[in-house]
Amino acid sequence: MGKQLDTLLKEARTFEPPPAFKRRAHVKSKAAYRDAQRRLDYWAKHARTLEWYKPWKKVLDWKPPHAKWFVGGKLNASVNCLDRHVATATRNKAALLWEGEPGDRRVFTYWELHREVNRFASALKSLGVKRGDRVAIYLPMIPEAAIAMLACARIGAPHSVVFGGFSSEALRDRINDAQAKALITADIGYRRGQRVQLKKNVDGALEKTPSIEHVIVVQRDGKPAPETRMKAGRDHWYHDVMADAATYCKPAIMDAEDTLYILYTSGTTGKPKGIVHTTGGYMTQAVATTKLVFDLKDDDVYWCMADVGWVTGHTYVVYGPLALGATVVMYEGAPDWPEKNRTWDIVERYGVTVFYTAPTAIRAFMKWGAEYPKGHDLSTLRLLGTVGEPINPEAWMWYHRYIGNKRCPIVDTWWQTETGGIMLTPLPGVTKTKPGSATVPFPGVEADLVDSDGQSVKVGGGFLVLTSPWPGMLRTIYGDDQRFKDQYWSRYPGVYFTGDGAKRDKDGYFWVLGRVDDVLNVAGHRIGTMEVESALVAHPAVAEAAVVGRPHDVKGEVVVAFAILRAGHDPSDALLAELKEHVVRKIGAIARPADVFFTADLPKTRSGKIMRRLLRDIATGRALGDVTTLADPSVVASLKQRYEETEE
Ligand code: WTA
Repeated sequence: MGKQLDTLLKEARTFEPPPAFKRRAHVKSKAAYRDAQRRLDYWAKHARTLEWYKPWKKVLDWKPPHAKWFVGGKLNASVNCLDRHVATATRNKAALLWEGEPGDRRVFTYWELHREVNRFASALKSLGVKRGDRVAIYLPMIPEAAIAMLACARIGAPHSVVFGGFSSEALRDRINDAQAKALITADIGYRRGQRVQLKKNVDGALEKTPSIEHVIVVQRDGKPAPETRMKAGRDHWYHDVMADAATYCKPAIMDAEDTLYILYTSGTTGKPKGIVHTTGGYMTQAVATTKLVFDLKDDDVYWCMADVGWVTGHTYVVYGPLALGATVVMYEGAPDWPEKNRTWDIVERYGVTVFYTAPTAIRAFMKWGAEYPKGHDLSTLRLLGTVGEPINPEAWMWYHRYIGNKRCPIVDTWWQTETGGIMLTPLPGVTKTKPGSATVPFPGVEADLVDSDGQSVKVGGGFLVLTSPWPGMLRTIYGDDQRFKDQYWSRYPGVYFTGDGAKRDKDGYFWVLGRVDDVLNVAGHRIGTMEVESALVAHPAVAEAAVVGRPHDVKGEVVVAFAILRAGHDPSDALLAELKEHVVRKIGAIARPADVFFTADLPKTRSGKIMRRLLRDIATGRALGDVTTLADPSVVASLKQRYEETEE
């Protein structure tokens, strides 16, 4: 695209969706923003679109940093996603259109999904899982993942979904932190043609998880994977516990502020944080944003590519779209397996109308080339979304041109595991877009940019903060309210610190630049540098380690590590490979370092802080001097000295 980019960008800025799009859109004018000025009334209006057993007495009780939304209200999330649809013609509509990586397919109507969820909820109850018990879910992207989440929601047992790509040890730590009583998993899953050994990982994790009483195992292929071992008394096959489970399970009547789920995400220490989301406010934000941002209507076929292991999969694969009675496409595998056109095959096969993915995927599609989408009929698409990292204007344009065929509005949505739902986004057809900008706050959300003193920056760069509470906000960090306060609310009292840096232009548009803390964003996945560092120092050969991100044209960023070896260990290719594998074992493949530099010393400031900027420059090859001889202790010292000189 090169030279043309400027012209194309100009064209994109004046892009107007087709009249047909505007005519049928949920939001037709900027009035939505005006309505939201009465913020609490606005959120209450959305909350009323849910079904409640008992209405709330007060919309918001705000004692910073603790918020309670819809105080006194009672509801159940699974009832909102299923029962109320089953009472209407939606009962016959496809809720899930599922496709496995090997090509197997399953469809669940709302009626069928309701039945499965009820049966599984009954089964969990029979095993002794009670309201308030935590249940870990470690599954591939198969329908049982959504079924398990909704079944937990039905009986009031908070779920903690652990991404199926996490290692045995990562799973163990998350189970122990939440003290989960039961675990739902599968024998295997498929990814890029590989059999992912989920149950084997579970067996490793469960050697040290005393809280787990029951493990329920789904047979991915309808027959036991030959490598699976079942432990009598503890492990049960999913289909066995389902066999005589009651087809109706009375939903638990939950308080608006009862926990719906815990989801672990990376922070600035070695230990992941259990983000706590409650029921009423979270569901309200899920339905409000799904409806207005993705503009879902009865005839839409909606596909969000996220895995349920991440928050996007919670809010925009399960809770938001199902609460709206939408038809959701769910796909197990890699977007390019077995061919680079797999994604477009799926869009064409199901007639997908609304498609939500990450910039990483868009950049990969772009790299594979326009011939892959071109061979497919993508004319059903009417709206495109992106999330997870800043999108570069080139990728935005490519998406607009080759996937949206210059017809579809693009919503660039900024939010976080902690926010529960979308926070910055255009409203399609209403908010003017600028390629690369997540535009403006969703109605009812208040965001600002501040400098290090907390002063608002009207135009320019600063830290992105959220200045008033919102319904989907995290309520605490599981078991660590102090960390919740320190992490998010102490930098600017009463104001939520996002950890992101951003710019604001003269039109008031936000341009999120990325994390300003020690969190990396690798292919849209959050990875804490300290987590990788603790993994490395747990290896007998490593004395000290530092981890930084290096820019990458598809993944946004990759992990690069610096390691000081213990006496008696020497740098070698074998050790390098071993350390990479070691990180995969400790955390999962998403954290695999692209490079490990062996070094005799780490550059530190006088107060002992690692100079990450110097390391980043070394990792990117921008450092002053030669990096191949880092093992010589004088090299780092001299680099550091020269670096400090240029800083002045
Ligand atoms: C980044 C994912 C720019 C950001 C829903 C944030 C984005 C982190 C965008 C949260 C976007 C997410 N533009 N950056 N549209 N969306 N981010 O918790 O750095 O996995 O803090 O939630 O992703 O990642 P998380």
